[in-house]
Amino acid sequence: MNLSGRTLVARGFHCPDGTLDPFAELAIEIGADGVITRVRRPGADGYAVPADAVRLPEGTLLLPGFVDLHIHAPQYPQLGTALDEPLEVWLQRYTFPLEARYADPAFAERVYARLVRDLLASGTTTALYFGTVHLPATQRLAELCLELGQRALVGKVAMDHPETCPDYYRDASADDAIEGTRALIAHIRALPGNDGRVQPVVMPRFIPACTDEALAGLGALAAETGCRVHTHVSESDWEHGHVLERHAMSDAESLARFGLMTPHSVLAHGNFLSDSDFALMKRHRAGVAHCPLSNAYFAGSVFPLRKALRSGVSVGLGSDISGGPAGTIWETARMAVTAARMLETGVDPALAPEARGGRPGARIDAVTAFHLATRGGAQTLGLPVGAFVPGMAFDAMLIDPSVEAGTLRAFDGETGIRLLERVLYGTSKPNIARVWVQGVQVAGMAR
Ligand code: GUN
Ligand code: FE
Repeated sequence: MNLSGRTLVARGFHCPDGTLDPFAELAIEIGADGVITRVRRPGADGYAVPADAVRLPEGTLLLPGFVDLHIHAPQYPQLGTALDEPLEVWLQRYTFPLEARYADPAFAERVYARLVRDLLASGTTTALYFGTVHLPATQRLAELCLELGQRALVGKVAMDHPETCPDYYRDASADDAIEGTRALIAHIRALPGNDGRVQPVVMPRFIPACTDEALAGLGALAAETGCRVHTHVSESDWEHGHVLERHAMSDAESLARFGLMTPHSVLAHGNFLSDSDFALMKRHRAGVAHCPLSNAYFAGSVFPLRKALRSGVSVGLGSDISGGPAGTIWETARMAVTAARMLETGVDPALAPEARGGRPGARIDAVTAFHLATRGGAQTLGLPVGAFVPGMAFDAMLIDPSVEAGTLRAFDGETGIRLLERVLYGTSKPNIARVWVQGVQVAGMAR
């Protein structure tokens, strides 16, 4: 059911500005280009629903699609495994050998097609993807996003440091890392039919994996091409410490110095960012991909989300496939609430409450989690999506609690935040009846 050029009448909710805006009936007019032109509620002046409007079935809910700010596409096959290892061991023993397999285009095709389809079916309408060092496989990932209809930002991972990256899996030189990225940018921008739906991004893996020459060259390339940057920042104390020792400054400061903190760049994790790092990011208009599931394993810490939001830095959510063991924003948003609660209370019952290290006021509610999952992520990227507002693309999902195979049951009169909580915690994949990107249905029942 394509909705471009149609008016849709639906019940649902969104969080255009961080607060919950539920609607019992909303008429959404969608232009031929899939962009919302007008939004009206009953009672508004001259409200009338055109005879040919599409009315979504009684009992269903319309939500904005999810924005996933941090996905390692090649790691999908190992989702959920080996997270008992520290990050450095996990990378060398499991992740680099897996990523090296994408030299084989047939393997890349199989995994990437499955991943993009699975994410669309779970309601992820915008995805920011790390690829591998391989140009052909990463080009194919971008093409698949375009073919399957996902809004996506895609980068070739850049990693050329011979001391931290294995010989069998790295860019052969800084020049290779830079020129490979340049080639990917040109390829994605020239894809037939690409109206900006799929965009290239400059992606140094993280400072430890790159030489200074590569970091400087990638920073210059980001400035030259106007591309966003996507990388990891201060994820673990190991990473944070490595940069302090090597560059005598914080990870964030070093990225900024190399020109790798451009507007709408996305820095993943950020658990060890200081107040001055947050201020620096705000000044550069770079945002954080908050990856609470992954942080529980590799960072051994909880991202100070409230503090980041108070500092005025833009934040969205990242599944961090496969550092995060669950591949969707549903689990990520739930964990964002749980993690913030644990940060607030402190966790060791052997200690007296006042000694547990809890941080008063750290909690977030389900509304904030849902905002981060939708409009928060979109703002971080600077994309006009994430809410039902004129000028934004119609990227959305339809939730149907009546589907027998789903875990969400019919609503029991809940409204407002209680309804949002029921949806956030109760929805499973079968309940996601339809998914649209820019007015075009890309997943779900009978298209
Ligand atoms: N830091 C560098 N590479 C990675 C990665 O693949 N996953 C995570 N979580 N952190 C990283
Ligand atoms: Fe990551």
